Amino acid sequence: MPDSNPVMRRSAPAVVPALRPSEYTSALIQVLRAEAARVGGARALEIGCGSGVVLAALGTMGAASLCGIDIEPDAIAASTRLLDDLDHGAIAELHQGDMWRPVAGRRFDLIVANLPHFPMEPVEFGGRLPTWSAGGTDGRRLLDPFLEGLADHLAPGGRAVITHNAFDDLARSRELVAQSGLSIKVALTTLVYISPEKLARMTADVLRTESGHTLYRHGPYTFGEMHIVEIAAAGTAI
Ligand SMILES: C[S@@+](CC[C@H](N)C(=O)[O-])C[C@H]1O[C@@H](n2cnc3c(N)ncnc32)[C@H](O)[C@@H]1O
Repeated sequence: MPDSNPVMRRSAPAVVPALRPSEYTSALIQVLRAEAARVGGARALEIGCGSGVVLAALGTMGAASLCGIDIEPDAIAASTRLLDDLDHGAIAELHQGDMWRPVAGRRFDLIVANLPHFPMEPVEFGGRLPTWSAGGTDGRRLLDPFLEGLADHLAPGGRAVITHNAFDDLARSRELVAQSGLSIKVALTTLVYISPEKLARMTADVLRTESGHTLYRHGPYTFGEMHIVEIAAAGTAI
């Protein structure tokens, strides 16, 4: 019989507007779901877990453990609540901190990240915190340390799945990954809508050089190419 007592019923966590999932989040989950069997049993880590929804999706796909890191206390609170509510709390650990620091010396089978990597300086707009999507002038302020630290945190046979704007110098990412002996492939390329408000903040050089290449403008409407990139541990087929 359905529980009609509103006092007894557990209230579902509300959407936190500043942490609402984006098209980047959707594409990341789409690629993970396409090979859900590979998630089963994995020790999973997400850097920049935001709302916790990607970790929740990995929990539903059967990950053995879920570790999330975020610089924002509100993101840690939201992720903790979501994972508890969806009964993944027993296998979850959440850390407030910067990038790899909370997991120094540890390795994971699956590492996911939708890092702030839009080429702009941090600023609060669109109801988001300044730490949400700004990746500095070239968009690589977090992408570079992420890729540089990846080899030290991937378990043998492990892989990473990340979002990567096409206008953020994918060739540079290929170089960094190769230097660490890892392999890389583009698993999906899609278009994301870029609001006029966000476009106005894009580094002018990037906007100029990428227009018509990875940025498509139709009057007031702009779309940017975005890749979901998969990176595999040394010696692992990709
Ligand atoms: C684009 S959002 C992605 C959130 C979530 N993964 C999703 O897809 O919905 C980027 C996240 O990275 C977090 N972040 C920013 N700088 C960070 C840092 N130095 N270390 C860890 N997390 C960071 C932000 O607080 C934000 O939650």
